[in-house]
Amino acid sequence: MSGLEARPAEPTRPTVTRLPDAVIPVDATTALTAFVVADAPALVAAVTDPEIRRWLPLPRPYPVELAEHWVTEGTESTRVSGTGLVRCIRVDGALAGCIDVKRVDWRARTAEVGYWLAPGFRGRGLASAAVRTLSSWLLDVHSFERVELRVATGNTASARVASRAGFVHEGVARNAGFTDDGRVDLAVWSRIAGPERT
Ligand SMILES: CC(C)(COP(=O)(O)OP(=O)(O)OC[C@H]1O[C@@H](n2cnc3c(N)ncnc32)[C@H](O)[C@@H]1OP(=O)(O)O)[C@@H](O)C(=O)NCCC(=O)NCCS
Repeated sequence: MSGLEARPAEPTRPTVTRLPDAVIPVDATTALTAFVVADAPALVAAVTDPEIRRWLPLPRPYPVELAEHWVTEGTESTRVSGTGLVRCIRVDGALAGCIDVKRVDWRARTAEVGYWLAPGFRGRGLASAAVRTLSSWLLDVHSFERVELRVATGNTASARVASRAGFVHEGVARNAGFTDDGRVDLAVWSRIAGPERT
């Protein structure tokens, strides 16, 4: 016995593929970052905005305790599970909005992106820049093949964002979504990897 014989292999744990907790720069003043607990009051103020309520079925009421839990444990458990990534759209350090990667399929290398902006940060192309940046990060840095947006057919501002961010309109998924007012059709937009990439 030399003492150098190979030991039996230790059982390996299955590894979860996940996106990193990255800070993703958009421009000199804007970055996509993790949320922090101090964002909770601004988050509560933003999600009571009627335009956000109109299109996104968020919990009602939305107490600050729920926001505090979501910005800490909720967002991180999404990331750790490998199913998505939630980022705060931060302008000069302030919460301007939220953008997230969801429905990640690591085998197909596809994902969907969703977003909203607090009212005071709209009207200056910020959502388009954030969506373009995050989708490019997925396609270029993480080798995704397809990034999708699904936008309620009546949501004109969000359709403009999709177009300005370089997404191609593919069609309408009928009765595919819901808002607080009921069922909606969802327009499907995509950016893809490769030569057809926009
Ligand atoms: C969608 C949203 C993120 C757009 O934010 P934004 O960066 O401020 O977008 P802009 O204000 O630059 O508007 C984009 C375009 O929509 C138009 N627009 C804005 N509000 C509009 C409205 N209420 N009705 C029609 N068009 C509108 C703008 O004129 C602009 O058009 P342009 O590109 O021709 O100039 C923001 O309105 C929002 O948070 N809405 C509520 C949540 C939501 O709908 N999220 C998306 C779910 S898919």
